[in-house]
Amino acid sequence: MPLTRWDPTSTERCKQSKRRLVSFHIMEAAILAVLVAVLLLLARGGSAAAGAGAATEFVFTAGFARQNVTTSGAAVVTASGLLQLTNETNEVFGHGFYSAPLRFKDASTGAPLSFSTTFVFAIVPRYPDAHGHGIAFALAPSPAVAGAVAGKNLGLFNTSDNTGQGRSGIVAVELDTARDDEFRDIDKNHVGIDVNSLESVNSTPAAYVDVGTGRLVNFSLVSGNLQQVWVEYDGASMRMEVTVSPAGMPRPAVPLVSYTVNLSSAVADDTYVGFSGANGAASSSHYVLGWSFRLGGGRAPDLDLSKLPPLPPSRSKKMMPLLLILTLFLVAVLVLLLVSGAVVVLVRRRRRIAEEEEDWEIEYGPHRIRYKDLHAATRGFRDIIGAGGFGTVYHGVLRRSGAEVAVKKVAHDSRQGLREFVSEIASMSRLRHRNLVQLLGYCRRRGELMLVYDYMVNGSLDKHLFDAGKPAALSWERRAKIVRDVAAGLLYLHEGWEQVVVHRDIKSANVLLDADMNGRLSDFGLARLYDHGSNPQTTHVIGTLGYLAPEMSKTGKATTSTDVFAFGAFLLEVACGRRPMERNDDLDSPGLVDLVLEHWKAGRIMDARDPKIGEGDEADVELVLKLGLLCSHPDPRCRPSMRQVVQILEGAAPVPETPPKDLENNNRLFYGYIESFDEFATVFPTSGTTTVTTQPSSSHSNDEQQEVISG
Ligand SMILES: *[C@@H]1O[C@H](CO)[C@@H](O)[C@H](O)[C@H]1NC(C)=O
Ligand SMILES: *[C@@H]1O[C@H](CO)[C@@H](O)[C@H](O)[C@H]1NC(C)=O
Ligand SMILES: *[C@@H]1O[C@H](CO)[C@@H](O)[C@H](O)[C@H]1NC(C)=O
Ligand SMILES: *[C@@H]1O[C@H](CO)[C@@H](O)[C@H](O)[C@H]1NC(C)=O
Repeated sequence: MPLTRWDPTSTERCKQSKRRLVSFHIMEAAILAVLVAVLLLLARGGSAAAGAGAATEFVFTAGFARQNVTTSGAAVVTASGLLQLTNETNEVFGHGFYSAPLRFKDASTGAPLSFSTTFVFAIVPRYPDAHGHGIAFALAPSPAVAGAVAGKNLGLFNTSDNTGQGRSGIVAVELDTARDDEFRDIDKNHVGIDVNSLESVNSTPAAYVDVGTGRLVNFSLVSGNLQQVWVEYDGASMRMEVTVSPAGMPRPAVPLVSYTVNLSSAVADDTYVGFSGANGAASSSHYVLGWSFRLGGGRAPDLDLSKLPPLPPSRSKKMMPLLLILTLFLVAVLVLLLVSGAVVVLVRRRRRIAEEEEDWEIEYGPHRIRYKDLHAATRGFRDIIGAGGFGTVYHGVLRRSGAEVAVKKVAHDSRQGLREFVSEIASMSRLRHRNLVQLLGYCRRRGELMLVYDYMVNGSLDKHLFDAGKPAALSWERRAKIVRDVAAGLLYLHEGWEQVVVHRDIKSANVLLDADMNGRLSDFGLARLYDHGSNPQTTHVIGTLGYLAPEMSKTGKATTSTDVFAFGAFLLEVACGRRPMERNDDLDSPGLVDLVLEHWKAGRIMDARDPKIGEGDEADVELVLKLGLLCSHPDPRCRPSMRQVVQILEGAAPVPETPPKDLENNNRLFYGYIESFDEFATVFPTSGTTTVTTQPSSSHSNDEQQEVISG
């Protein structure tokens, strides 16, 4: 029986050869013409005989040819030659049938013809556990099945004939990826043979026999991988055998499913062979990549898997980069936002806690404390524990050491003099004495200077002396101890160190009490900041009225002797429980010095003492009162040194029994210098407590004094 290859190019080739023959020699042409005629006749005869059992064969290895495949529904032959039955659209089906009808029945005997086919398919699910219904290899009476329905009908049947009631003329091998109880599907991953019904006549879970082990291995039809199917139908035995395996594996020797069916009666005379794929409520992309078919005996040619058109990149692979890029982009944007936000916060914070540091400060490094640390220690300068002439004092706890500190913020606008001051501060932070409040360091920032001291739990002495709120007045023992502490501290400043340090602002407010009620001098040297001040034309007189030695108004210079004067005022303050000058005193009322002096002259000096002391050591109170007056001597030359003061307090030197002469002679009022004090010095109005002995006693005018000060 002649064999015709269904080669789409064969007729074209014949025409070409005919054209070539025209130019040949007539003799040869005639001979050839006869031969061609015979061949053509034979071919036509063969073709006609195909329906009567002639073999028909076709192979699609390197892609499907559009003209030979009739597609319907959602199916397309892609540009790369894939037969895509469906894409990932729900509720669709697609058909791809070989264009020409074939006859599976021997024309003369009516016996079914053998056929052999193999194809490679891939089912790419949209989601791994929600996918379409699968693919069927089908013999059908029409390439577009009448009233075909998607979903469980696999696009092969309509709803009226899908259980075999009708005579649909369809025989199919289903690669079913959904379980439909209506058709008694065994599972959602099986291979079955369907004859005129979706209820398979035989089916088995998808599996292949591993050639090596001989064991049956399950595999998934919807893995998205290439898989190969072989269908062999033997016309004599009417046995149909189906074998499946992952593509690339050797063909299993044992078929997975088989069934005996009389194809002569089961399918129509003109039957189309091809594929159907369907999606339901979920979807897959169903692909057939290669197909070879032979009808009329013999095996279908093998498929060269290496020549198959490639699958399009899978959704996940396709989406991955996009998703990845999108995610990365979003992450990048987020990170950028976070980073820029953090930078803004940091810059703000940094600006908020920025400080100045200049080259010259490097040598003071150890004494310089970072603003950041102070800011943290004081919790942003919240805890105000005091406000004085020099600035505000805050409580803080240094993070690193856990030490309690007092931070004094001093406003300082001028840059001039700051350098000298900082140098002095740095050197003064080397001062160590148990009656000095330890200066730990400094910090400088935009017109602000911060001095960091040890924190004194019991606050300043003046609070204890004058605050009405204090429940118990300080006993004389306490006061006597504090007075001696301060004297020792001041002596150390004057004589105990390599340099003479003038305190400049001795007063009870600057005496702090530690946890053991020891008196400690604080703020030493601070007044010097204003000495270095911005206006070199004026020498400011700095201190607190009532504690200012009279010669200050003339010379403008603070000396150890002016400190002694202030210490005298302090002694009287402690012993009398009165400020040297009461705040609301009118200027004519006598000052504390005058008051005590009056009592002394009247021989009743003890009347001047603070009544709250109670029964104290009378002799000691008297000693302190007398020493206070002695230190308050208007003539600096008549005042004792701090060393003498300490000796007197210790009882090692006597204190004069009668008031020194000059003390009573020069108690004239003096107002002239008030105006030239800066704001820190003019806290209290002056009164007659200070006198000027260095001026001729007769001719004092305000103008003259003004001149003296500002010169
Ligand atoms: C599927 O194919 C149809 C045309 O057949 C098209 O309109 C649709 O956009 C495709 N869907 C996807 C997800 O590719
Ligand atoms: C269903 O298929 C049968 C047999 O193929 C046909 O006779 C019938 O007309 C079809 N029904 C519809 C609704 O297309
Ligand atoms: C294969 O699958 C079937 C049904 O899903 C199951 O009964 C069988 O145990 C599986 N075999 C193997 C080796 O996993
Ligand atoms: C197969 O079906 C055809 C047509 O109905 C019939 O002629 C033939 O006898 C059947 N063959 C067998 C073996 O039953």
